[in-house]
Amino acid sequence: MMRESSPRPDAAAPACDIEIITHSPEETAKLGEKLARYLKAGTVIALRGTLGTGKTCLAKGIAWGLGVKETVASPTYTIICEYEGTVPFYHIDAYRLSGDAEFEALGAEELLYGEGVTVIEWSERVPLSVPPEAWVVELSLLGESCRKIRVRAPALGGDLES
Ligand SMILES: Nc1ncnc2c1ncn2[C@@H]1O[C@H](COP(=O)(O)OP(=O)(O)O)[C@@H](O)[C@H]1O
Ligand SMILES: [Mg+2]
Repeated sequence: MMRESSPRPDAAAPACDIEIITHSPEETAKLGEKLARYLKAGTVIALRGTLGTGKTCLAKGIAWGLGVKETVASPTYTIICEYEGTVPFYHIDAYRLSGDAEFEALGAEELLYGEGVTVIEWSERVPLSVPPEAWVVELSLLGESCRKIRVRAPALGGDLES
């Protein structure tokens, strides 16, 4: 089930588009924990950004916010990790995938339309697999411990920065 269109950031403007600067891994994880408050079963979060920008760190915070008790590790070698929280939490790392076809062959696409929350690191490697309604979080390096994190999501009805 692969679509031909590209994911949303380039299409319609999302309702929430904010930029947050974090100054430590703890702050980034805390942001993830806050984001988790707004997540519902079926939400997909596409994480973009190069190595070391804090994608796994943010994913750990999201997992924590979803009540996952297990330690969330980087899924680079396993590609898909599944955790039990208040909803199932799927943590995918697309870094080692050749593209959308491999993502689909792994059965990863089915997870996106299930009852869990899914975070995809390196989502830019599987652009056609990212649902158009996915949140898009873009991380970039500002300095050694400074990260810019842009969150694009549907209207959240709350204040992420508080
Ligand atoms: N503000 C920050 N947010 C997140 N990580 C940070 C920050 N400052 C420094 N770091 C460091 O950057 C690295 C980010 O690693 P990780 O989350 O695995 O990145 P990615 O998954 O994007 O490759 C970690 O070593 C972390 O300690
Ligand atoms: Mg990572």
